[in-house]
Amino acid sequence: VTPDLVVVGAGIVGLSVAWRALGAGLTVTVIDPAPGQGASRVAAGMLAPVTEARAAEAPLTRLGLESARRWPAFAEQLADDAGGADLGLRREGTLQVAFDDDDRRALDELAGVLDLLGLDAERLGGRDCRKLVPLLAPRVRAGLLARGDWQVDPRRAVGALLVAVERRGGTLRAGRAVGLLQARAGRSRVGQPRPPQPRPPRSRPAGAQADGRATLEPGPAGPVAGVSLADGTTVEAGAVVLAAGTALAEPAGSIDGLHLPVRPVKGEILRLAAKPAGCALPLTIRATVQGRVVYLVPRADGETVVGATVEEAGFDRSVRAGAVSDLLRAAIDLVPAVAEYPLVEATAGLRPATPDNAPLIGPTAVAGLHVAGGHYRNGVLLAPITADLVLAGLEQGRLPAEAAAFSAGRFT
Ligand code: GLY
Repeated sequence: VTPDLVVVGAGIVGLSVAWRALGAGLTVTVIDPAPGQGASRVAAGMLAPVTEARAAEAPLTRLGLESARRWPAFAEQLADDAGGADLGLRREGTLQVAFDDDDRRALDELAGVLDLLGLDAERLGGRDCRKLVPLLAPRVRAGLLARGDWQVDPRRAVGALLVAVERRGGTLRAGRAVGLLQARAGRSRVGQPRPPQPRPPRSRPAGAQADGRATLEPGPAGPVAGVSLADGTTVEAGAVVLAAGTALAEPAGSIDGLHLPVRPVKGEILRLAAKPAGCALPLTIRATVQGRVVYLVPRADGETVVGATVEEAGFDRSVRAGAVSDLLRAAIDLVPAVAEYPLVEATAGLRPATPDNAPLIGPTAVAGLHVAGGHYRNGVLLAPITADLVLAGLEQGRLPAEAAAFSAGRFT
């Protein structure tokens, strides 16, 4: 049976889109060679629009704030749908600190950005920071407490999404999408006036072939009507959502003039196991430590995530010894007790970055082709609002006006 929707990519964004689409009554197939094993598995899961704010990215900050606001309900519904899963959503806030006097400049800059954007964060002196987090090094000079910057465990969230998608009747298919099927204009139901919503039109392109094109009729290519996979098979669908992180644009390569500029930005990150009793961090700590940027994200189950490097290194996902050393030195300078934590994992992920650091969301100029990608540092944070916007785009054929800054076609 042809599904209403094919989602290419089973990371937190693609699965959120699929889950929400299933909830809206659509039939959905999700395609991914290794579901949940991409950037979502590496991400720390900070829901941090305030401490990630940049002066030049005010619309992105607003999008992040709105998505953070949606996270608690999203998590609650997802936990229910996944049979009572615990997503590890923690709402204690985030403390951004400066380690020494030179590092204060970065903290003051952030405080200036927050003032400019009208965002709340409480300024704390070094002593107040240590009162809040006694494990902080005595040298810590000052901090900003962002109570609304939370965290969720992305591995738990992806696990819950996989369960919820299956329980809602979605199909998960292992495979790599390498092309798009396009019906020839006028030869199928796709592209005709849309029936009453919310269901997008089903398509049944004739003659779809493994090279990603329907070939029976000459003439201009029509709406996208499915995807072709690397193994030579095809999956037809009423619409396609590209949500494959740094591989986002691969299936769209066959379409002239469609520009979805996503590049990989590597992040190396560490996971430390449950620490000795009495050594738990009560909230997320972010810092510059003698110029080195680091964050420590403590999970309720005892894990602490320490991240992350930011490197333009192409598709290289190796973990450099120097990156591990830099992250650990910064983390231990900041919280000396970290030296006693067992180091259990060092991984690297590829953030899907766009030229303006903002995501690509919603319909493209090609009928039937939608995008949910380019989330760069904020995929976990932006998953709920991205899913809602993609659904709105599927139902209305366009992105809501307030999300125009994130339109998938803005670079085309
Ligand atoms: N959002 C944190 C990071 O990308 O490292």
